[in-house]
Amino acid sequence: MAAVDTYGLGRVLGEKGVLPQRAKRIDPSLPLRPGELLIDVESLNIDAASFKQLKDAAGGDSAKIIEQIRAIVSERGKMQNPVTGSGGMLIGRVKQITPEHPAAGTLNVGDRLATLVSLTLTPLVIHEVRGIKPEIDRVDVTGQAILFASGIYARLPDDLPETLSLAALDVAGAPALVARWVKPGMRILMLGAGKSGALCLAQARQKLEGQGQLIAADISAKALSTLQGLGLCDQTITCDATQAVEVMDAVKAVTNGQLVDLVVNCASVPNTEMASILSVRDGGTVIFFSMATSFTTAALGAEGVGKDVTMIVGNGYVPGHADVTLGLLRGHPGLRRLFEERYV
Ligand SMILES: NC(=O)c1ccc[n+]([C@@H]2O[C@H](COP(=O)([O-])OP(=O)(O)OC[C@H]3O[C@@H](n4cnc5c(N)ncnc54)[C@H](OP(=O)(O)O)[C@@H]3O)[C@@H](O)[C@H]2O)c1
Repeated sequence: MAAVDTYGLGRVLGEKGVLPQRAKRIDPSLPLRPGELLIDVESLNIDAASFKQLKDAAGGDSAKIIEQIRAIVSERGKMQNPVTGSGGMLIGRVKQITPEHPAAGTLNVGDRLATLVSLTLTPLVIHEVRGIKPEIDRVDVTGQAILFASGIYARLPDDLPETLSLAALDVAGAPALVARWVKPGMRILMLGAGKSGALCLAQARQKLEGQGQLIAADISAKALSTLQGLGLCDQTITCDATQAVEVMDAVKAVTNGQLVDLVVNCASVPNTEMASILSVRDGGTVIFFSMATSFTTAALGAEGVGKDVTMIVGNGYVPGHADVTLGLLRGHPGLRRLFEERYV
């Protein structure tokens, strides 16, 4: 069999030894190489931090957002926002599969799937933009994408609307990490209660087994009240997560001054590191899922305030994360309704 380029190094243009995710430009051209799989792309789910940056830069104008996305993809051969560095994921249909691909024999041409690897390393060509839904970070396109042999994917389930699966799978790493870290009895703060925050709350609720305390904090009082109405949190804090001391004071107020054992940062804006660090107790843990997190700010910030805190980078891949996430939607009718209202 022909040699397989597992990580797609051969698709990187002009930078020897650099992996596709770090590369400035990758080559999305056909034909497929051994071990690759070709997808007819239908929709892109742009990462929340990236979409917000593009939207702000475009002054909210959809045509300008599309223009920026087209320019990035045509320049880089992938959808990687040069400002935030982040991507997103896509759904589409298998168009061609090489015999060397690990899923040859399992996947068939025409199967619908969602990629679970980031768009930041996925060779992509956009032929046409069919529509944009700025409120949910989605762009409907006609195009083609290539998945390397190492690229993970999920078959789209039959029992959930595809656009709902796309939205949830985009952040599948977050609830799966929560499942790993939450123990019964913990005090937990969810900072940023959007899509990933809601899934994390549902997962934390399960893992707490009726003990502990679940606090949701977000800039939107309406989003918080919906989540509380669904029983997904015990207390809410309406706050600007960039205002670290205010957030800490509010967390102190609802925890009898104890602060929390675990913060999960799911906010979509930069400069929320210190709110997370100040809100956790000494010896506690912060999971930084937000793509707007700065390693330097977090590391120097924790040192600067003398806080002994374990800080975890929210790896987007956790084994079984797709099943965990779709399972949450199936097992929690209120959460599913919330996602259907927003993302279908
Ligand atoms: N680690 C990974 O592998 C991975 C994978 C996917 C996504 N992510 C990242 O995870 C983060 C969350 O993604 P998501 O899809 O859950 O985004 P989302 O649905 O947009 O949720 C983000 C939430 O943060 C809120 N927010 C915005 N500004 C705030 C502020 N100043 N203070 C408090 N809350 C604020 C938003 O409120 P409004 O809606 O009112 O603005 C929203 O409710 C993003 O940074 C995304 O890039 C990470």
